[in-house]
Amino acid sequence: CQNGLGYKTPPMGWNPYNAFNTSFNDTLIRQHVNIIVNQGYLSAGYRYINLDDAWQASERKDNKLSFNSSKFPFGIKDLVDYVHKNGLLFGIYSDAGTQTCGGLPGSLDYEDIDAQTFVDWDVDYLKYDNCNEQRRPEQERYKKMSDAIKSVTAGKNKTIYYNICEWGTSNPWLWGPGVGHSWRTTPDINAFWPSIISIIDSQVRLTEYGGPERGWNDPDMLVLGFERIPYDEQVTHYAFWAALKAPLILGCDLRKVDDKIKALILNEDIISVNQDPLGLSICQVYYRTDNEISFDIWTGPLDDGYVAILFNRGIEPISITLDFKNHCRLDGTIEVYDLVNQRSNGNYANNYTALDIPKHCVEFIKLIGGNNIDDDRPCLNYS
Ligand code: DGJ
Repeated sequence: CQNGLGYKTPPMGWNPYNAFNTSFNDTLIRQHVNIIVNQGYLSAGYRYINLDDAWQASERKDNKLSFNSSKFPFGIKDLVDYVHKNGLLFGIYSDAGTQTCGGLPGSLDYEDIDAQTFVDWDVDYLKYDNCNEQRRPEQERYKKMSDAIKSVTAGKNKTIYYNICEWGTSNPWLWGPGVGHSWRTTPDINAFWPSIISIIDSQVRLTEYGGPERGWNDPDMLVLGFERIPYDEQVTHYAFWAALKAPLILGCDLRKVDDKIKALILNEDIISVNQDPLGLSICQVYYRTDNEISFDIWTGPLDDGYVAILFNRGIEPISITLDFKNHCRLDGTIEVYDLVNQRSNGNYANNYTALDIPKHCVEFIKLIGGNNIDDDRPCLNYS
């Protein structure tokens, strides 16, 4: 289960949990399939449609996981077929404990049976949660499901993307490669600024652990499209998740997204940073925290350029200067392209100053051209 099974870029999709918690059903999921296909999300790259906790019945049937038949009257296989017919992929949810966080049957000690059920239903993705774990070690519990998936898919033309959702409690970025394809690095995200900023901060030390050969750090699903988050903070959230090479799993009610946020979500320049074939995360290269001025700079290589985030953490607008040599190890003449507004800001030598970046916002730019002057990246050293 190397990350060589066709998962060369982070997965993109939608999951109901952030907007609906456990209140989702067949109708809601099919509505979202239709929106994803018909409103440009699939063509932008969003192709997994995932269930979360509470699709299950409260008891196993003949030892197997079964579905809640009031929520899913046609069963899961019928829904998977609908998803596949629409050109999407289907994700399911279970838990590496005796019960899920919502108190429904978990997969601990039923790994082989449940992995077989998931293959029988033709699912493509498993999010595997960490409640009711009976104090058994994470690595052992997560590896058991990994082995079960490998064994039931062996020799078949079938792969299941495996997301280790143990919230970063046992440093899964160290043991996750080869076990799963991505690992949650944090507790649950919430749709407000303190949660977004604390997750960004918690990624500072982890950026070296993700990549196409290892798997992806997963700082949790997106809270784009939640009205109570100001637009500028949503820009910051999306810029970081894209450039950290996080899975981009939308979590909002897609029936109610306004046009401005929808344009942001579908911004192909931001998405192409996330899906860049090199698969390397940005890292923090500079920070400054004074009384009134607080900002940082993150950069990283792309297959066809370099990417930078100039991030104003403070509450007054500030200007931030990116030094090509110190922050990117580049020299020469460089074109600066604004990824959010999708326009060129012109050509620069030595440095580029982003003027008046608003409160909690970023200037998210791609650098095109120039020469690499050192293979060592300028990441701050936190080890
Ligand atoms: C905890 C996970 O981290 C969440 O993303 C969600 O899956 C809930 N459990 C569901 O109970």
